[in-house]
Amino acid sequence: MTTASRLLGELADTGRDRSRGGYSRHVFDAAEGELRTWFAEQAARRGLDVETDRNGNLWAWWGSPGPDAVVTGSHLDSVPGGGAFDGPLGVVSALDAVDSLRAKGFAPARPLAVVVFAEEEGGRFGVPCLGSRLLTGSLDPDRARALRDPDGVTLAEAAARAGHDPERFGRDDEALGRIGRFVELHVEQGRGLIDLGSPVAVGSTVIAHGRWRFSFTGQGNHAGATLLTDRSDPMLPAAAVVAAARRFAAAAEDARATVGRLVPTPGGTNVIASTVDLWLDARVPGANRTRALVEEISGEARSAAAAEGCAVTVTEESYSDTVTFDAGLRDELNGVLGGVPALPTGAGHDAAILAAHVPAGMLYVRNPTGISHAPEEFAEAGDVDRGASALAEVLEHLST
Ligand code: GLV
Ligand code: MN
Ligand code: MN
Repeated sequence: MTTASRLLGELADTGRDRSRGGYSRHVFDAAEGELRTWFAEQAARRGLDVETDRNGNLWAWWGSPGPDAVVTGSHLDSVPGGGAFDGPLGVVSALDAVDSLRAKGFAPARPLAVVVFAEEEGGRFGVPCLGSRLLTGSLDPDRARALRDPDGVTLAEAAARAGHDPERFGRDDEALGRIGRFVELHVEQGRGLIDLGSPVAVGSTVIAHGRWRFSFTGQGNHAGATLLTDRSDPMLPAAAVVAAARRFAAAAEDARATVGRLVPTPGGTNVIASTVDLWLDARVPGANRTRALVEEISGEARSAAAAEGCAVTVTEESYSDTVTFDAGLRDELNGVLGGVPALPTGAGHDAAILAAHVPAGMLYVRNPTGISHAPEEFAEAGDVDRGASALAEVLEHLST
């Protein structure tokens, strides 16, 4: 068994979600803390120096931290009930690549680091790529500190309980200034590589995406004693948004819109809800089209709310524009790997956040199920191995 597959096996029992299936590993929870400890031990075994930056991201350095470093890595958190590969594959492949470069006696001519970004999925506090957004200054630290998880715990409280100082959150020019080039390896989250018949691809673009919270307020009441004509039931406009998201996305070219989370309060079978919150995830390639789609869906939300005598507010919780990865770095990756396919993606990544600041690129590893953010997400051992060796070749080239 190769190092990357063996290391993935070491993580197999951490953060299993017995009720949802798959894994639930969220920033500053117990499972994620175990994964942080595991990573620090793995790095120490390899003689890498581990540090945690101001925003809770972990760095393992081969050579002294310094400018023009070649950085690779990904994340260890998951969506609720997620798969085993989204995030961890990039981390174990990075450690595997370090081992194989060491084994061949390679000495990097510039510092090389493996990074683990905090809360890439936004699974606990709602904002994806939290660690990389804070690091690059694209998320206001005051706003970040005040974010709340579903239990009402703020990010500041959760960070402090996990031993971090939330007052230090914010743009980290020192950490950012050290990154010369960044390459993230990730399991593919769709069917692109199945169709292309290739185990590995280089990332080309990440489509624009964001998250919007729709909060509907009506009148809580009795499910049996309240006549239909007397109701202000916020579940009705919420349901209209679910249907409108599909309808408007289907009418816009290559758009995706999803309501994956909907929370009625108080949430009783025999209770008309007093409020319903739902979260819309919308993604459309090209500039400005994502917000235009959300505006169409919001129009439907406002008219359905008015028809039911409810109020609605729509809040943008995150937005990232379409990203095209650095062309020069892409050419280099292609040169090293001998012309593997270039793949666009609808999934967001820390590499796409960093891309506004440093040359960044991605490698994808084939996922034979084409399914991700679900327990069926997978990569064959042979493809995991090919991905890790591709990453080693790339790191060797970039740090020579
Ligand atoms: C992360 O995988 C995302 O695209 O939401
Ligand atoms: Mn993901
Ligand atoms: Mn990911």
